[in-house]
Amino acid sequence: MDERKIILSGIKPSGDLTLGSYIGAIKNWVELADQYDCFYMMADLHAITVRQVPADLRRRTLAQIAQYIACGLDPEKNTIFIQSQVPEHTQLGWVLDCYTMFGELSRMTQFKDKSAKNADNINAGLFTYPSLMAADILIYQADLVPVGEDQKQHVELTRDIAHRFNTIYGDVFKLPEPFIPKVGARIMSLQTPENKMSKSETDNGGCVCLMDKPEAIMKAFKRAVTDSETSVHFDRENKPGVSNLMQIYSVATGSTFEQIQQEFAGKGYGDFKVKVGEAVVEMLRPIREEAERILADKAYLEKVYREGAEKASYAARKTLRKVYKKVGFVQ
Ligand code: TYM
Repeated sequence: MDERKIILSGIKPSGDLTLGSYIGAIKNWVELADQYDCFYMMADLHAITVRQVPADLRRRTLAQIAQYIACGLDPEKNTIFIQSQVPEHTQLGWVLDCYTMFGELSRMTQFKDKSAKNADNINAGLFTYPSLMAADILIYQADLVPVGEDQKQHVELTRDIAHRFNTIYGDVFKLPEPFIPKVGARIMSLQTPENKMSKSETDNGGCVCLMDKPEAIMKAFKRAVTDSETSVHFDRENKPGVSNLMQIYSVATGSTFEQIQQEFAGKGYGDFKVKVGEAVVEMLRPIREEAERILADKAYLEKVYREGAEKASYAARKTLRKVYKKVGFVQ
């Protein structure tokens, strides 16, 4: 029997992949890929909680697959799939809706933030999103969920839902752990460093995307907001901009905060920002080039997501069958 532990994670194709998602999530996926059985999806079902232009959603979903592979996820070793092509997610999602409390969902920070931002479209999907996310994770009996800091609350809720279900029906679900990186779990906007870098910020230079060209990346870093001092040191509270750039530089170069402080001692922010930009350009260059190459090969991409959905569905069905039986559906 295969004793390898299981990982599940995903990203919504509601925007182009950002440096934040890369550092907070994908980079860790690649590092964990050899030790685990991994399922990585394009969370398109989650994307439609906010209105999407259909053609853009389709284009970004395919581009995201190419980018996952270009980041180093080998489709031979990882199950890469599109969430909407594995209907078991929504099937389990409904069941879990019935084991998730209104109060729990009301407390989710992301629900509160998103409903404030989309006041004219606070739909039921936005509200029950975390129980679908719980289904994504629990249906594969995942041990580990590598995500950025902002998703931790959803993984914790997943554990609560699983625990509640197990208490009633016996051990059906494994309780998953969030896996959050020590550095880079919350990459901030380059323009408003008190806010998370997010896909919705591509227009104002606050966000860098994996497919951005070197000139665009350099421009964004040169314009990055810092503070009125001149010294490069880590102080998240008082120097959010500089601290954010230090985290990005640390991930891109492997340097510790201490080494970074030494490297830029006595130099101004101008120098620092250029160096961070250059490091990011070099980190992302091979990914962009490889993703462009893969994206041009439509037949290969289709093979990856078709085989991925088949493998995912096979694994998901096992859990779904058990759940249906437990709750009393006729077999
Ligand atoms: P999403 O699409 O908002 O983000 C994808 C992943 O990237 C991380 N992330 C960041 N990390 C650090 N700094 C940032 N600025 C930053 N922005 C994004 C997120 O924490 C996340 O890990 N609900 C999920 C998608 C999802 C999912 C799942 C994840 C659906 N089902 C099951 C794990 C397991 C989401 O909206 O992520």
